Amino acid sequence: MPTHTEHTRRAWLGAVAAAVAAATLSLGAQTTPQAAVDAAYNKYKTLKEGKNADYIPALAKVDPNLFGIALITPDGKVYSAGDIKTEVSIQSISKVFTMAQVIQEQGTESVEKRIGVDATGARFNSIIAVEAVRTVAGTGAPEMNPLVNPGAISATSMVTGATADAVWNKIIGFHDDFAGRQLKVLQDVYKSESDTNQRNQAIGALMLAYGYIKSNWPQAVDLYTRQCSIGVNAKDLATMAATLADQGKNPITGKQVMDPAKVPAVLAVMATAGLYDDSGKWYYHTGLPAKSGVGGGIIAVSPGKFGIAVVSPPLDDAGNSIRAQRAIADISNALGGNPLASKPR
Ligand code: DON
Repeated sequence: MPTHTEHTRRAWLGAVAAAVAAATLSLGAQTTPQAAVDAAYNKYKTLKEGKNADYIPALAKVDPNLFGIALITPDGKVYSAGDIKTEVSIQSISKVFTMAQVIQEQGTESVEKRIGVDATGARFNSIIAVEAVRTVAGTGAPEMNPLVNPGAISATSMVTGATADAVWNKIIGFHDDFAGRQLKVLQDVYKSESDTNQRNQAIGALMLAYGYIKSNWPQAVDLYTRQCSIGVNAKDLATMAATLADQGKNPITGKQVMDPAKVPAVLAVMATAGLYDDSGKWYYHTGLPAKSGVGGGIIAVSPGKFGIAVVSPPLDDAGNSIRAQRAIADISNALGGNPLASKPR
């Protein structure tokens, strides 16, 4: 008898296989970005699978019917369907931009040497993974990554600043530059997560004990919790993804947010660890660097072609939005977005 998880996996594999088959056909049919976005929206708007995250109480209260898709190309054109204005908390998608900030300010080696850039194959908040890596790392080589909680809290601790407020202003400012507008913390989410984040506090203390965090782990955990509570809509997330797709230049504001030479390092970690323990499966089917958050958002990047984001709160067992995964896979495959399938010039 298949388990619920097995059912979910089979449904996902079936949906992605169908999307890939459909994409092969539609490429010849010259699908436009707007047609691809509309088709995915209409196909999945009535899908009811999955469930909102509830280990952070505020997330359980978000409308599960919220569904918005936005795709932005390097020329700044926005293609969308559904609700692209309602904000959800960015959650783990913020991990990409804090990692990017450390890479931007301190170089690609900083993250590689202190945290590591290897997938753990474990859940995003696994403590066993920290211990397992510690055993592997008898040599002293860190084998974590900044997209799981232990690595993300460590990355937040690496952002420099004389006070907590100074560090925070840099973190939110960098997110603002990627989104092209001033973002704000959703205070109800911040309070809810701060009241219930004892596991992350334990991870923070452990990361100090093991040398990934150099001092003041409570500050790192608090700033990490704040960054996860930043409010974003589907258009904000797509703009952030499109900035990565356009070598660090925001295609809406025109601002060069990040050094182009450093963007591939960010995309590489997204490719190997962006959807947690389902990252391999996702990459196998789409070839897209991506990142999910338990607020229901997923961003994905087709370098040089587009950035895309979907917001839809119900998640699968791995913690990834179900409608977002399916819609992005369909749209990207319909538009030839898989970078691993590029044709010779
Ligand atoms: O640390 C946490 O539990 C959340 N603030 C973020 C988790 C998250 O988004 C993981 N995502 N898939």
